[in-house]
Amino acid sequence: MFPLLPLSISRPEATHSTKTFPINISGLLPEPLKIQDFSRQQNHKSGGPEGELSASLRYLNMRYSMPTSRAKAVLTDIGTEELAHMEIVGTVVYKLLEGASIEAIKAAGLDGHYATHDSALFWSDPNGVPWTAAYVSATGDPVADLHENLAAEQKARAVYENLICLSDDPCVTDVLRYLREREVVHFQRFGETLMQVQECMNQKRFY
Ligand SMILES: [Fe+2]
Repeated sequence: MFPLLPLSISRPEATHSTKTFPINISGLLPEPLKIQDFSRQQNHKSGGPEGELSASLRYLNMRYSMPTSRAKAVLTDIGTEELAHMEIVGTVVYKLLEGASIEAIKAAGLDGHYATHDSALFWSDPNGVPWTAAYVSATGDPVADLHENLAAEQKARAVYENLICLSDDPCVTDVLRYLREREVVHFQRFGETLMQVQECMNQKRFY
């Protein structure tokens, strides 16, 4: 039985919104489908290279080598928002797995997860490979790093679209739609930041 526990998570002010996003897992789905949804969300959006954990740590690391205070602020803001997204994804996957029967867990091929973690979450990619710091790269070149972030946001958007296609629960789909939209906004903010950084770096310097 999956209890209906509404959870509200504040979106950071830096994203120009102070609204809250309630996460309500409907309880409409039969258990096997819930567990399958758990498997998809957990694998794709938590501990993989395009997941929220990788994104948040990557941006909060790169922010130090950005050449302008505005660029540092954008990376700090988006990195912080990605941490909030990690909390959202964590809430979704926990609610999908919480209280699942052993039969449903076995049927979904999650025996290995259960043996080691029970219903606790674990940062892994779709193949069960644990999250690694290798996903968080920074060259120290602001132009190269911002291009990487643009690509990362597009990949994150694409993965959310794939997950929306796979989702069986309309309440989970709502969460995924919201998170997808935020990736589009992040892409736009990184694009503006790239132009601003290039403008700054192209300025003539007088000594
Ligand atoms: Fe993002």
